[in-house]
Amino acid sequence: MKVLLAKSAGFCYGVKRAVELAAKTGEETGGCWMLGDLIHNSHVVEDLARRGVRKTEDPAGLAAGDTVVIRSHGELKSVLDDLEARGVRCVNATCPNVIRIQRLVAQAEAEGRRPVIIGEPLHPEVMGVASWCRQPLVFDGPEAVEAWLDGDEKSREIPVTVVAQTTCIRKLFETSWKIIKKQCTNVKIFDTICNATHERQSEAAEIAGKADVMVVVGDRKSANTKHLTEICLRRCPRVVQIERADELSPDFFNGCTVAGLTAGASTPAGIIKEVYATMSEEIKAAEGKEESFEELLN
Ligand code: F3S
Repeated sequence: MKVLLAKSAGFCYGVKRAVELAAKTGEETGGCWMLGDLIHNSHVVEDLARRGVRKTEDPAGLAAGDTVVIRSHGELKSVLDDLEARGVRCVNATCPNVIRIQRLVAQAEAEGRRPVIIGEPLHPEVMGVASWCRQPLVFDGPEAVEAWLDGDEKSREIPVTVVAQTTCIRKLFETSWKIIKKQCTNVKIFDTICNATHERQSEAAEIAGKADVMVVVGDRKSANTKHLTEICLRRCPRVVQIERADELSPDFFNGCTVAGLTAGASTPAGIIKEVYATMSEEIKAAEGKEESFEELLN
């Protein structure tokens, strides 16, 4: 049995940049804050807390002179404005790809266009992007888009600018914008799915198509990890999403000849390495188990 490891597994450049910036700010200030999870990985968040970057969910509790690092997903514009007004120093670790979408929706509205965001309405990135304009429309996929268009004939005449959450599944975005393009009269589309996400999803699909079992590593709160699991499930009957190596069991690998391994953008290399090593051991154990089972049959 062999293990196929995705080359794109692990930290993307936006996450790497955010973690480095937070660690550096923690060192320089001798103690600072992150507002919410800097990235969706509890191991990294705990490690940063040990290095002086403590987490708070309450921006109102930050005072003038405090330093706060803004997470890779971005923050609500109203929160940033308030922090700035109160003299809290903000170190912006928002991924440049997310900042680009925030600017696109703000610009769209300034030009008299209605911003349409395809993504998860309650994800911090989407909520943050939506806060950069006054009247955004947020749809989680084609069905919601159709319901909007069917519900109000006049909506087809509004000039719209369509963007995607950076980690949106490509097929979901394409189906959504194609419906809008077909039915609306004035449409601008910006494909804002980030390249790192696109490469990771394509590679996961490719490996899942060759594997009997697929392991996806990442935090349960991570949207891009969840999407990787959904993509793998379309190509591979046996998929497991785990946060840590100790969640694996030898039974999972029984009877398989090829196992695939990928990981979300906020999964540290050390955890992927551990999972890879555990998989190799578990596979050996499963193969051993299978032999003794054969012996029992004979
Ligand atoms: Fe940025 Fe893409 Fe990573 S948007 S945080 S480079 S997944």
